[in-house]
Amino acid sequence: MRKVLLSNSNSNSVYHVKSPANIALVKYWGKKGRQLPCNPSISFTLKNSYTDLILEVVSDSTFSIELFFEEKRNPAFEKKISNKLQSMFDLLPWLENKKLIIKSTNTFPHSAGIASSAASMSALAWALASFEREQLAIEKSEQEISAYARILSGSACRSLGGPVMLWGKVNEELGSDEYAVKVEEVHEIFNQFEDAILIIDDQPKEVSSTIGHGLMNGHPYRESRYDLARDHTKLMLKALKEGDLNLFGNILEQEALGLHALMMSSDPSFILMKPRTLEIILLLRKYREENDLDCYFTLDAGANLHLLYPAKDKKAVQEFIGKCEIDNILFDTLGPGVQNVD
Ligand code: PMV
Repeated sequence: MRKVLLSNSNSNSVYHVKSPANIALVKYWGKKGRQLPCNPSISFTLKNSYTDLILEVVSDSTFSIELFFEEKRNPAFEKKISNKLQSMFDLLPWLENKKLIIKSTNTFPHSAGIASSAASMSALAWALASFEREQLAIEKSEQEISAYARILSGSACRSLGGPVMLWGKVNEELGSDEYAVKVEEVHEIFNQFEDAILIIDDQPKEVSSTIGHGLMNGHPYRESRYDLARDHTKLMLKALKEGDLNLFGNILEQEALGLHALMMSSDPSFILMKPRTLEIILLLRKYREENDLDCYFTLDAGANLHLLYPAKDKKAVQEFIGKCEIDNILFDTLGPGVQNVD
């Protein structure tokens, strides 16, 4: 990791990290307490879609933040992160007399429908823990660092490791609401897995995830959703372990459509898919059957489609994508999570 002194003050430290986005296979939708999930979720950690973040910590009389996103000062992000970090003074008391200078860029476009907060907030959590370790001799466990990321931005905790992560308590032995853990039992077919992200709509999200999670509070299907998500988590873990791509695809697509069904049946109600999203889903299902393909879709809280497939089907999937007439496509694979930059 790069740790250099930038100014004359010997209390300045700089940490350079990169951390990826992740795509949920079983969705986290609904939260309680201090950003704890109402159901377990599972995700693939992406590789090429990441935030590159440099954190400089400067001793000062009070806490403050200067945040540069894509080289421009960004007051909106500054305020959001400042509020979050102030709410974490109980966990990070040393922040109270530090100025943080954060410089971040993303490898993926802002409009890509990729959760940039998962990438950036996992990077920030990791950089803060690096400062604690190197300057304050406070050694935080992976679980504690994951909890920082969770408090900063929910599903960000799933970006610290990979390629497959679980967040949320499944039973007494497995999973925790406080932090994400790596799913160890994963079939080799998932070693060479890809994600093609079809950008159908490049406009900013219509519903922020904070509002989206809030929609679950009085939702009529709330309890049955959480039961179903727990069942889906167990089935997805089985599919991942056994390399059962039919089961994987079945749960993946039920989760994607289930998430959107929850939004459509919320009060107020939101329809986030576009006609093109639905058209391509129907095309994919037909093409998949005709060509005996293992290519399945998922959606975030937006219109863009993630196509997940094993590398063996890459050529056929590319042929399918060609038929979709979408200009803006991002290709990604699975990766190990956060990394220090030397
Ligand atoms: O972590 P948040 O608050 O941005 O919420 C993420 C919500 C979904 O992306 C829709 C699902 C998920 O588990 O990532």
